Amino acid sequence: MSLGVASANEVQKREKKPEVSGGRINQSDMARSDGLWERARKVLPGGSTRAAVWFSPHPPYIVKGEGAWITDVDGHRYLDLANNLGVLIHGHAHPDVVRVVQEQVALGSCFAAPTPHEVALAELLQERVPAFERIRFINTGSEAVGLALKAAHAFTGRSRIVKLEGVYHGSNDFAEVSDYSTPENWGNEPASVAAVPATPQGVLDAVVAIAANDLAIADRVLTTHAAEIAAVIVDPVPPRAGMKPLERFFLEGLRTLTRRLGMLLIFDEVIAVRFGYHGAQGRFGGEPDLTVLGKIIGGGYPVGAVAGRADVKETTAKDVASSGTFTANPITMRAGLASMQLLTPAAFAELDALGERLRSALTQFFDEQRLPMQVSRTGSVFSFYFHRREVRDYRSYFKLPEELKRTEAFFRAMLARGVFIASTGTVFLSTVIGPGEERIFIDACKSSLLEIYTAA
Ligand SMILES: Cc1ncc(COP(=O)(O)O)c(C=O)c1O
Repeated sequence: MSLGVASANEVQKREKKPEVSGGRINQSDMARSDGLWERARKVLPGGSTRAAVWFSPHPPYIVKGEGAWITDVDGHRYLDLANNLGVLIHGHAHPDVVRVVQEQVALGSCFAAPTPHEVALAELLQERVPAFERIRFINTGSEAVGLALKAAHAFTGRSRIVKLEGVYHGSNDFAEVSDYSTPENWGNEPASVAAVPATPQGVLDAVVAIAANDLAIADRVLTTHAAEIAAVIVDPVPPRAGMKPLERFFLEGLRTLTRRLGMLLIFDEVIAVRFGYHGAQGRFGGEPDLTVLGKIIGGGYPVGAVAGRADVKETTAKDVASSGTFTANPITMRAGLASMQLLTPAAFAELDALGERLRSALTQFFDEQRLPMQVSRTGSVFSFYFHRREVRDYRSYFKLPEELKRTEAFFRAMLARGVFIASTGTVFLSTVIGPGEERIFIDACKSSLLEIYTAA
């Protein structure tokens, strides 16, 4: 099978094992994955259900995950450092999670009634982040963003929202505005650019984009439209603005402004909650009114949640109903509880130390080899950038065509060596990565980079 080239847009968008083995994947031996792809394209639009994990001509189809490793239908094993884009913080099929899920499957998967498990998971989250005075679960991060925005509308009586240009908050009509702005359409200052053709003008009018870490623009926009703005939503560690925390002055400035102008400040910690025992807000500050959660809190099962001020949650609970059929299902709640219980303060510290060891080894290699590269890291997540400019917002993050090409070539070179990272060049670490896996990863990075820079 020859690996075709993904478009720029595709790239942009989209057991503790007994013995450690990496090694080259024979890409001409992907017959089963090829066959599945042939079938898939006849039943799934574009051949795939999930844009974020698709790459051309098609990804390997996966049949098994154990600890830090996954296996495809053709029997190739990969070291998995994508971990379903940040969900699997304990890798695949952690025994504590498997145990409670199996127990619950036998007890019944869902009921038209609450279960004790949603109370237990909510209590754990509240104990760790006292600002989570009330918590409501839902099935995905995208739905949770929608729920938080609706709560903001209902609480403030205002209908517009402010978001950071280029920052992803899931598939939600409003939150998607300006997600994929390009130099051709973004203008002098952040603008409300449609992410989907024929987005209703009403959606675009309801969203105002601002730049990360630019308090002057935020001040002007919030003050000018104060009477209409319900909330400002930010990811406190936006991957598309540098994979590092928003600067403290910016967060504090937003907090002061929103409080003064009667707006809510919403943090999207769907990924960022993994940056600390007390969440991203416990580590980097910001005091949001509401926080959107997802990914790790479901232990590998579908989840989202909105947590925050009791007055906001209680007064809007009736108007902003959320009654999804699978909401707070006991399998997710138990898997989430088991997974979060494993995340002790020591586990966070070890993940941080692992991230720093890898960042430092890679940076040393870039310097020795004089590669125009950097690794931008917060905690257990990092991104490879094929340049050395400072990234502090979406515009400085935005990959030039040459950088996109290198990102893609690196992703494919890593895959060929049996190391699976996100196609955007992002690595999500897990607690089951041992010294053997560290070594495999670093060796694969070095040989992949030498290969792509030699080929260039
Ligand atoms: C910051 C952020 N918000 C929201 C979402 C949407 O979450 P979900 O994919 O569960 O709908 C994501 C997903 O990657 C995300 O990274």
